Amino acid sequence: MSDLYRPVFHFTPPSMWMNDPNGLVYFDGEYHLFYQHHPHSTIWGPMHWGHAVSRDLVHWEHLPIALSPDDNGMIFSGSAVVDVHNTAGFGANAMVAIFTHHAEQKESQSLAYSTDRGRTWTKYAGNPVIPHQPHLKDFRDPKVFWYSDHWVMALAAKDKVLFFSSPNLKDWQLTGEFGNGFGSTEGVWETPDLFELTVESTAETRWALTVGVGDGAPAGGSGTQYFIGHFDGKTFTSENPKETILWMDYGADFYAPQSWNDEPHGRRILLGWMSNWQYARDVPAQEWRGAFNLLREVSLRKTKAGIRLAQQPTAETRVLRREAYHWYEQWVSPSKKLLQDLQADAVEVIAVVDIARSSGMFGFQFRKGTEEQTTVKCNLQTGTLLLDRTRSGQSHFAKGFAAMHSAKLSLELDTLYLHIFVDRSSVEVFAEDGLVCLSDLIHPSAESLQLECFAEDGSIHIRSLSVYPLGREK
Ligand code: FRU
Repeated sequence: MSDLYRPVFHFTPPSMWMNDPNGLVYFDGEYHLFYQHHPHSTIWGPMHWGHAVSRDLVHWEHLPIALSPDDNGMIFSGSAVVDVHNTAGFGANAMVAIFTHHAEQKESQSLAYSTDRGRTWTKYAGNPVIPHQPHLKDFRDPKVFWYSDHWVMALAAKDKVLFFSSPNLKDWQLTGEFGNGFGSTEGVWETPDLFELTVESTAETRWALTVGVGDGAPAGGSGTQYFIGHFDGKTFTSENPKETILWMDYGADFYAPQSWNDEPHGRRILLGWMSNWQYARDVPAQEWRGAFNLLREVSLRKTKAGIRLAQQPTAETRVLRREAYHWYEQWVSPSKKLLQDLQADAVEVIAVVDIARSSGMFGFQFRKGTEEQTTVKCNLQTGTLLLDRTRSGQSHFAKGFAAMHSAKLSLELDTLYLHIFVDRSSVEVFAEDGLVCLSDLIHPSAESLQLECFAEDGSIHIRSLSVYPLGREK
């Protein structure tokens, strides 16, 4: 029973509590992944940084805890960089973690460094490098990266992101701020990230600023919004009006994403925490609690509504495919379903639907048993995508968990592309080549394994459908 919900391929801590990904950085053949961790309880508490490394972004090796609470407080979220030019004086190529020290209503920013590939860590004796600001209770989650000739820090402060600049990671100067009523301000802003991307099929670039919002997200509770605009090394400006709210995910379970610094192939890959502060402490757990979403490679795309973030599962994920089933040019209707002879608790589905030849609604059911199922459903008339976990299994632990989450599709193309991942206790949907994402946790019983592809109120022409049961190598 205890590992009933442990994902097959999503990252989870070896045991106990985990929330945000932290310190994502690549160095010398290894992707480093640190995370908010309470090593002695499955409930959030004194935060440490847990640590794991991977060479292929699929297999992770757990390493000893990197950072533990000290006199300055708990170790809250933050990032890591490789100080190639030894600007901080900790040594060439030192790995430097920049994190929030949290003590009773006081948040300050501090450093720790490692000169042995992240294996052992020393806290900087001059901590904190940015002291607590008496007027600011929420002042946390530094994301640091190198910009041209200096370090930049994006830091969340209540309902803003502050930008700081430093030559050496130790001395920081405030250079700008963004917020002041832009986007969703219903909840506290947390875990910012900032990166530049080329707009697909153009020579233009834009900057994306991603921000966790503690409350008021489309599926309720915490969620992640983003802004598109410009960054000049000092501050960020949005190219959209204040009222524009853009969400990275319309499901309930995608929070505090962070992207890797120094990704060796030049990709922007990010990782989110697959939970929600509304019920993170209450989801069924025995040995461990908290998983990360699938890794996502992000890009920018021009749409009729403006430039938008597109998120796709990383190519590395394909090594998880254990078998392959393909269908081509198939009609699905109320009297003709597909996939009913397949069972899986971990599976990837890719569907390409011919919009002009289809009408009504269609979708997929996963983790289906006699009394439960999770449904992904598209309404091609209204352009709505639904993820329905009202009958997905255990849900009594939190009011409102058993809900339907929806997003608008643009349906700008002739075909609708749907990419879905199920991993025991989660469903993640990437629609329209990643323009619309929905991620939800589910808690089905072990025997609910059935798959189904269905249509209602019309018939659907599927150009191609691929189904891949997923697993790690035996
Ligand atoms: C986001 C967050 C951060 C904070 C950390 C504490 O989920 O609230 O703002 O640093 O979690 O664990």
